[in-house]
This record gives sequence, C-alpha cells and structure tokens, in this order.
Amino acid sequence: MIKKILKIVLVLALIALVAIQFIRPEKNNEGYKSVAAFEKETKPSVKVASILKENCYDCHSNQTQYPWYSEVAPFSLWLADHIEHGRKHFNVSDWSNYTIKKKEHKMEEFVEMVEKDEMPLQSYTIIHGNLSEDDKKLLLQWAGLARLQYKHQLEVSSK
Ligand code: HEC
Repeated sequence: MIKKILKIVLVLALIALVAIQFIRPEKNNEGYKSVAAFEKETKPSVKVASILKENCYDCHSNQTQYPWYSEVAPFSLWLADHIEHGRKHFNVSDWSNYTIKKKEHKMEEFVEMVEKDEMPLQSYTIIHGNLSEDDKKLLLQWAGLARLQYKHQLEVSSK
C-alpha cells in the first residue's frame, strides 16, 4: 500500500517537474552597452569594471550571464526572481533615469552592502565564490569616490 502511494507521488512529482519546464522566464540580455552611461559617469578602472561585471551586473544590469542550469526549471524561475528583484532596487542600466539624489543614495547603499558582505547574495557566492578582500577594497574605494561626486553635485545644485 505505502509502496503504491509512494509510486503515485513520485510519478506526480515527475509530471510536475516536466510541466514547469514549459514556463520560460524572459531572458535579461540587452547587452553590455546598457551599462555604458553608468560607467561613463562613475569611471570604474578596467579592473573594477570587470569585478562589477563578474559579481554584480548579473542582477543589477540589463545584461545577465546565464549559467547552463538557468535553462532548467525551477532554477530558471528562481534566478529570474532574483534578477527582477535586484534590478528593481538597483539597476545600472537604468542609471540615466535616476536623479542625482537617487544615484548618491544607491552608491551609499552599495558601500554598505559590500562592507557588510550582504552583496553579492549568498545564494550567488555559493556558486560564484566570494569577493576577495582586494576586490572588495577596490570596489569600496571606487564606490566611495563615485558617491562623493554625486554628493558634491547635490550640494552645488542646492546653493
Ligand atoms: C544573485 C543576484 C544578485 C547579485 C549577484 C548581486 N545582488 Fe545586489 N541585490 C539583489 C537583490 C535581490 C536585492 C534586493 C533585495 C535585498 O536587499 O536583499 C539587491 C539589493 C542590492 C542593493 C540595495 C539597493 C536598495 O535600494 O536597497 C545594492 C546597493 C546592491 N544590491 C549591490 C550589489 C553589489 C555591489 C553587488 C556585487 C558586488 C550585488 N549587489 C550583487 C541581488 C543581487
């Protein structure tokens, strides 16, 4: 009896797994030109730009580098959710539409998130590895400067 129920449950689970493969979340791949405005303003070095690309842009720009398992549900759905959620909070491809105040605030949060090791998301670093201390230092230096630049613009514009 138990064996039979188990078999039915397994078959149902298998059917469900096959069925969800038909849900194909839309890909986030507009291309890296979408980050150009952000990089032009914040001027990351080649090294910092590559750290950003490898650790942050997957969820915070309109260009994600998709791993092979992104083709397989439920991972595909889980990734799509992180990407959508991450971009809603902070999207460098949308930088031209942010006010200076918002840019300043995002860079402030950027520093905070990296300092506290809250970003990249833990579920991401499990696969991609943690930021090295050197990379963190470079990111923080650059982000701090970018923030100052926006802060200065705010002060000038309020005079
Ligand atoms: C796997 C996806 C993913 C990666 C990779 C990632 N983030 Fe995030 N990020 C998110 C999500 C989701 C949120 C929003 C929810 C939250 O705060 O946990 C977020 C929020 C943020 C915020 C806060 C914005 C706000 O308005 O509160 C900042 C700043 C940020 N991330 C910076 C970074 C930086 C810097 C990196 C790279 C070092 C990075 N993130 C890598 C998914 C990601």
